Amino acid sequence: MNATPNPAAGTGGIPEVRGAGRHQYLAFTNRGTPAGELLRRYWQPIALASNLGPGAPPLPVRIMGEDLVLFRDDLGRVGLIDRKCAHRCTDLALGRIEDGGIRCPYHGWLFDVNGRCIEQPAELSPTAKDRVKAKSYPVHEAAGAFWAYMGPGEPPLFPNYPALMGGDQYRYTCRWRGECNWLQASEGNIDPVHTSYLHKVELTDETMRARWGVFANKSRPAISIEDTRFGVRLYTKRAMPDSPATSVRITNFVMPNACAVGGFEGYLGNGGLTMLWDVPIDDHAHWRWEFIFHRSGKLDKESLDAQYQSEKAEGDRMRRQQEQLFMQDRESMKEKAYLGLGECFSVHDIAITQSQGLIHDQIDEHLGSTDIAIVRARRMLDEAAREVQAGRDPRGVVRKAEDNDFRDMVVATNVIDPASTAEAYCALIASDGTFFGLDPA
Ligand code: FES
Ligand SMILES: [Fe+2]
Repeated sequence: MNATPNPAAGTGGIPEVRGAGRHQYLAFTNRGTPAGELLRRYWQPIALASNLGPGAPPLPVRIMGEDLVLFRDDLGRVGLIDRKCAHRCTDLALGRIEDGGIRCPYHGWLFDVNGRCIEQPAELSPTAKDRVKAKSYPVHEAAGAFWAYMGPGEPPLFPNYPALMGGDQYRYTCRWRGECNWLQASEGNIDPVHTSYLHKVELTDETMRARWGVFANKSRPAISIEDTRFGVRLYTKRAMPDSPATSVRITNFVMPNACAVGGFEGYLGNGGLTMLWDVPIDDHAHWRWEFIFHRSGKLDKESLDAQYQSEKAEGDRMRRQQEQLFMQDRESMKEKAYLGLGECFSVHDIAITQSQGLIHDQIDEHLGSTDIAIVRARRMLDEAAREVQAGRDPRGVVRKAEDNDFRDMVVATNVIDPASTAEAYCALIASDGTFFGLDPA
């Protein structure tokens, strides 16, 4: 494990480093770091909604190195405040939910969902509490998760991404804990070659198997990218065996730590996509969030859930530990599984990015032509971090209602006529609103 000491891990400006490793600073996201300030300009998923129903105990939450507590007060309001009590630093995850807030169990100070101290029962001065305010962040509930805005000023609009639309019947939400830095995990999502290798498995499900043939196609891909208002769009074209047609896969990097790709929902055909977020817990761990969406309302969530639960240990960790080489099964690698870690693609992604080290060292890389989207995403993050330092909104932050429509976040996996182009196919899908207008379940 190579927890690289890096000058960029500190606070302050963007390091003026040239050449390889100049974007290493993006890995570090504690408050005050350039990348930390960038990621804090966007809504981030922080907890599963199912973990904080009415009457639930307070939930400790660690995000980008900040220790916070998420709680639902006895009036049903949800707040995210500093985990340390503002009096003498007691852990508020031990707090009592009562009287319109969370009460510290040490001396009874009571904080509301906005972090205001509303009672100090043992203090002499009745107004002393008015001078106490715990750090607090706005919270929004959507798509089976709580989201926080941890930046300064007015939060941007919550983005209306297609995968977050619709009710629970259209979507499956879950998360996994990855024991490595967020950036390498995020970069794995915009690396179109790995589907043909890492994820090559003998799937048991027949429909999935038929569709996955397109993904697992090993002919050398032609990858092209274009900037979008929210990130980078990737076109991956591959020749089809025994046919003049072309296989096309359209996926997206979504600023600053998300992506929109075709995934499990693909067996239901067009009209679905998976969005992933890799949210830093701290420099050495992240949450991989999955929002799997299909507008037909026919997602087979039970089989997905069964597969995921069989791979999970407590706390949304993977059952397969790195120290045991993730229980790799060499026998299965002979014919069934390229990686030998079973059929679950999330497990493949998490294991392989963990294997790159706690903090992937960019100095040791030899990037190839197929890493084109990763290179562009790093530059885009770097440009955006500079925008933030200059006091401007970075790319993808939504402030106006008319910009909050993401029909252009096209995700597709298909075989197209050789006379057509991937770009024309993308424009067609964007204009026919494939992801919009939910079909009745
Ligand atoms: S430490 Fe919390 S009330 Fe004293
Ligand atoms: Fe993957």
